[in-house]
Amino acid sequence: MKSKNATLIAPARGKLGVLLPGLGAVSTTFIGGVEAVRRKIAQPIGSLTQMGTIRLGRRTEKRSPLIREFLPLARLEDLVFGGWDLYEENCYESATNAGVLEKDLLRQIKPFLSRIQPMPAVFDRHYVRRLDGPNVKKGKTKYDLAEQLRQDIRDFRRRTGAARLVMLWCGSTEIFLKPAPVHENIAAFEAGLKKNHPAISPSMIYAYAALMESVPFANGAPNLTNDLGAMIELSKRHQAPICGKDFKTGQTLMKTIIAPGIKARMLGLSGWFSTNILGNRDGEVLDDPASFKTKEESKLSVLEHILQPELYPELYKNFYHKVRINYYPPRGDNKEGWDNIDIFGWLGYPMQIKVDFLCRDSILAAPIALDLVLLLDLAARAEALKGLGIQEWLSFYFKSPITPPGLYPEHDLFIQLKKLKNTMRHLMGEELITHLGLEYYD
Ligand SMILES: NC(=O)c1ccc[n+]([C@@H]2O[C@H](COP(=O)([O-])OP(=O)(O)OC[C@H]3O[C@@H](n4cnc5c(N)ncnc54)[C@H](O)[C@@H]3O)[C@@H](O)[C@H]2O)c1
Repeated sequence: MKSKNATLIAPARGKLGVLLPGLGAVSTTFIGGVEAVRRKIAQPIGSLTQMGTIRLGRRTEKRSPLIREFLPLARLEDLVFGGWDLYEENCYESATNAGVLEKDLLRQIKPFLSRIQPMPAVFDRHYVRRLDGPNVKKGKTKYDLAEQLRQDIRDFRRRTGAARLVMLWCGSTEIFLKPAPVHENIAAFEAGLKKNHPAISPSMIYAYAALMESVPFANGAPNLTNDLGAMIELSKRHQAPICGKDFKTGQTLMKTIIAPGIKARMLGLSGWFSTNILGNRDGEVLDDPASFKTKEESKLSVLEHILQPELYPELYKNFYHKVRINYYPPRGDNKEGWDNIDIFGWLGYPMQIKVDFLCRDSILAAPIALDLVLLLDLAARAEALKGLGIQEWLSFYFKSPITPPGLYPEHDLFIQLKKLKNTMRHLMGEELITHLGLEYYD
């Protein structure tokens, strides 16, 4: 039942179009997975919106509905998919190449996946040096390319009859770029597009096109893309929410689970060495130092923010943090991430923690993609959220959450989860849960 304090949210009527720049391992595992769930072949494990519940009111009330029944989310049956890639393979062929989903499952959803054909991409090898493909748009200026993408978005809307759209960047990690004056506001950015400014990457052109079409945009990769003044301005102006960046999946997910625990017990940290082997196309792209630098920055920032060395100099001042990614083809998408954590306890006595996470990269990313699509669409329909620009409550899903200038991001997974669930309660007019709990002892 809807609470009388619920905020205004437009109903999720009609189809929701999901637009994905980059139809590689993550995208095809996401799309194929949604279809498998719709056909009841498999379960949406790892998706908070599909599997999770939310506690409402006092513990004694025993009210814990499923999130998907509590919030007016789009239904999986209403999702329709499209995307862009520089390779011409359809989603069935791309999923087969990615080697994540098993052949038997793929066979069952082959007709559905085969129908999703990539639109020609906005791509430039300068920004992703390890890739080169034929399915690429041509245009005199970056502005022309943005106009072509906008036309693609409008055509997709018309073709599918989608009532609403969301765009999620699942393309490769681009080279490391720093914010520049050309990114600061809409006018500077548009002038830069017309002059082919080198600081404007393809992912930014997609973000610009989406926001201009009032389509919410999330970034699953660590690129500098929508975390820019111009995009924040556009997002507010067009009431198209944004969030990102870099899906929080394997090793960094573990890091943001373990580090808050170490800090909660006031244990010290002298070093954290993380290394990965990875053999998919993402691993190949990240083998290029310029793309790796973008990923490295994203992975390194989390510990500083969680441990707050400025508040706890005796515990965390000079810890050594190293992150490596090694391209190793035999493993494909089945990444292995090792962590060696040197900690110290009572009176400074040293101890070690070793983590060896044998994960599946895209299996961890796909449910995040689904949740983000559904929650961004919700944000775009919610009066209380749609004009805010950055959706900080979705930080839960990212390695490098976007925040307004001057506000540090919250990286602790458990704080992020509380923020996410309290935002859901707030939207639906339910009391926020502070976990104070004194009322049980009145
Ligand atoms: N767990 C995870 O898998 C995970 C976690 C965090 C971030 N990411 C990021 O998500 C992104 C996708 O990962 P993936 O494993 O699917 O990689 P992938 O290499 O399998 O797929 C990326 C696809 O994007 C395409 N592409 C590159 N530039 C493009 C452009 N300008 N326009 C359209 N298509 C473009 C490539 O051709 C490729 O098919 C990567 O940037 C990766 O770093 C993945």
